[in-house]
Amino acid sequence: MFGTVFLVFLGLCLCSKGSSQTVLGLPRLSGPSEVLVKTAIELECEVPPGSEEEILLQIFKNGSSRLLGEVTLLVDENVGVIPIWTSLIHDGELQCVASGQNNTEILPTVSDTHRLKIVEPVKGAMIVHSGPAEFYEGDVLELHCSLSAGNYQSYLWLLNGRPISRSYDRHIEDAYLRIEKTTSKDSGSYTCMATNIFNKTEVFVSNSSEVVITVKDYVSDPDISYTVLKEDPHNHFAMVTCQSTKGTPPITFSLYNKTELVANMTTEENRATFKVPVDLDQEQSLQCQAANEGGARHSQFLRVYVELVGGPAVMNHDYDTGENYAIIGLRFYCKAEKGSHPRYQWFLNKTLLDERGSFYYVHHQAPERSILLLAVGRSSAGTYHCEVTNSFDNTTTIRSNRRYIDKEVLNRLPFFVVLIVFGCFTTLILLVSMCCCIGVVFRRRQYGDKSLLMLEMERSVPAYEGELDLSVYSEDPGVVETAKGEEEFDQASEASVDEWAEIEREKKTLEDEPVKVAMRMFAL
Ligand SMILES: *[C@@H]1O[C@H](CO)[C@@H](O)[C@H](O)[C@H]1NC(C)=O
Ligand SMILES: *[C@@H]1O[C@H](CO)[C@@H](O)[C@H](O)[C@H]1NC(C)=O
Ligand SMILES: *[C@@H]1O[C@H](CO)[C@@H](O)[C@H](O)[C@H]1NC(C)=O
Ligand SMILES: *[C@@H]1O[C@H](CO)[C@@H](O)[C@H](O)[C@H]1NC(C)=O
Ligand SMILES: *[C@@H]1O[C@H](CO)[C@@H](O)[C@H](O)[C@H]1NC(C)=O
Ligand SMILES: *[C@@H]1O[C@H](CO)[C@@H](O)[C@H](O)[C@H]1NC(C)=O
Ligand SMILES: *[C@@H]1O[C@H](CO)[C@@H](O)[C@H](O)[C@H]1NC(C)=O
Ligand SMILES: *[C@@H]1O[C@H](CO)[C@@H](O)[C@H](O)[C@H]1NC(C)=O
Repeated sequence: MFGTVFLVFLGLCLCSKGSSQTVLGLPRLSGPSEVLVKTAIELECEVPPGSEEEILLQIFKNGSSRLLGEVTLLVDENVGVIPIWTSLIHDGELQCVASGQNNTEILPTVSDTHRLKIVEPVKGAMIVHSGPAEFYEGDVLELHCSLSAGNYQSYLWLLNGRPISRSYDRHIEDAYLRIEKTTSKDSGSYTCMATNIFNKTEVFVSNSSEVVITVKDYVSDPDISYTVLKEDPHNHFAMVTCQSTKGTPPITFSLYNKTELVANMTTEENRATFKVPVDLDQEQSLQCQAANEGGARHSQFLRVYVELVGGPAVMNHDYDTGENYAIIGLRFYCKAEKGSHPRYQWFLNKTLLDERGSFYYVHHQAPERSILLLAVGRSSAGTYHCEVTNSFDNTTTIRSNRRYIDKEVLNRLPFFVVLIVFGCFTTLILLVSMCCCIGVVFRRRQYGDKSLLMLEMERSVPAYEGELDLSVYSEDPGVVETAKGEEEFDQASEASVDEWAEIEREKKTLEDEPVKVAMRMFAL
């Protein structure tokens, strides 16, 4: 901008001097486009030939009044060579300005810009870190990579030799690395690597020296658990383990009962195990404390209780049915009456079963019970039982009842179901048939009450002759007696009686349509 103003100003000065002005043709600037710093190069500025004056050629950076080099063209010369010893100030858009040498009659002209990139190899990378090298998680870590020399550089941050990638809380901006919420994973040796490239081929690298950062973790709430150890028949111990998932060592673990410190231990690990004597059938409550310089945390109270297995072991089962009510899956449950630390084992034909096989798997729900899930098939046939021992000593073993299982034995039960269903069905059919019979008899009895004339008329209706067996038409007292005896003839039967009466009525009116009456009877 300033350059343009400068040139306009120059032009104005020259204009004001005279009236007969000459206009030079546009100069053209050429030369290398990318060079290293501190090298000798030549720029060429060419003006259209045919000038009768000496021409002054000057190199400026676009936007700056600082003269970078110049040369005077003699008459008849039209190409000027300007030697340049490169430095960072030559980096940018260059222009060649042509004007008359000591002749203000000639208006100056300006060339198009020529982009010259000056590359200075990177040098002297160094990490600048103002904060402490050791701190607790959650603090911000900010590092700056500074260079003593270099341009067009890019940076790579490394932690323990591995590149750090950008993420939501790891900002990498130019020469800065900023980690918002540090954790112990951000501990390690940081380096920065600055690079720049010349001519797309030559790469310059500057590695900083290491800066070691230690981010310490606060201890997390410890978990507490125990196993039972039996050293001799009379001495049982609880092996109590306190464990924090994180926390920078050294960590001091302390074990407390309800009232006082039981034991303590400082370790370089994140866990500690205490051996605490226990009395059988006596309950204790224990709690862990984990502490490092950052603070102390407590676990839940743990109930420690040791009871030997005892009482009968009981094996129950239930099952899943598939299509046709066939049993396809079976679950055995094993449970001992007593015992705080039972170990369950399953046996088929007295062979110990592993945790998982082709047709079964074992699911321990210690200490309450253990479940054996079984696919009923050929290979699962056999006699099953379970055994319970103390997990810490297998001198006492309690055996459960045994049970023989195979597909046929299991599916006998559904056969009974089928039998019952079939039985019910048969009974139903019998009942329905009986009702029909009774109905027929009842109707006959009604016919019996009618006048002989009516009977006579009905007999003459041909359609009836095929339907009713006339040989049993005369009243059979026994049958009627039975029908009368069944006073609790249900609603449906009574309805049918009404229907019969209805038919009687219709018959009286439709005597000439016997076939229709017969059809009506069939519908019944
Ligand atoms: C020179 O630089 C100015 C800004 O500094 C820009 O607006 C102008 O276009 C440039 N001229 C050329 C020829 O590149
Ligand atoms: C141009 O003028 C300057 C002084 O303004 C003088 O030093 C120089 O010798 C002159 N050059 C020519 C070629 O006349
Ligand atoms: C830049 O690289 C090209 C090949 O890619 C090569 O021909 C040229 O000489 C190089 N220039 C410099 C100044 O090294
Ligand atoms: C700089 O560090 C990188 C990565 O650690 C390594 O590959 C390279 O060789 C180092 N360069 C120099 C010049 O030390
Ligand atoms: C706590 O432990 C101490 C020593 O180990 C013991 O004397 C005390 O009886 C225990 N208290 C409880 C409540 O178990
Ligand atoms: C550990 O226990 C001992 C006494 O048993 C006590 O002197 C010491 O201060 C305890 N250490 C910690 C870290 O609590
Ligand atoms: C278990 O024994 C029964 C006979 O008692 C036998 O039919 C079955 O195949 C045996 N099962 C296995 C897995 O050995
Ligand atoms: C239980 O018995 C098995 C062998 O049957 C043995 O390998 C194991 O160590 C015993 N466990 C205990 C706690 O005594």
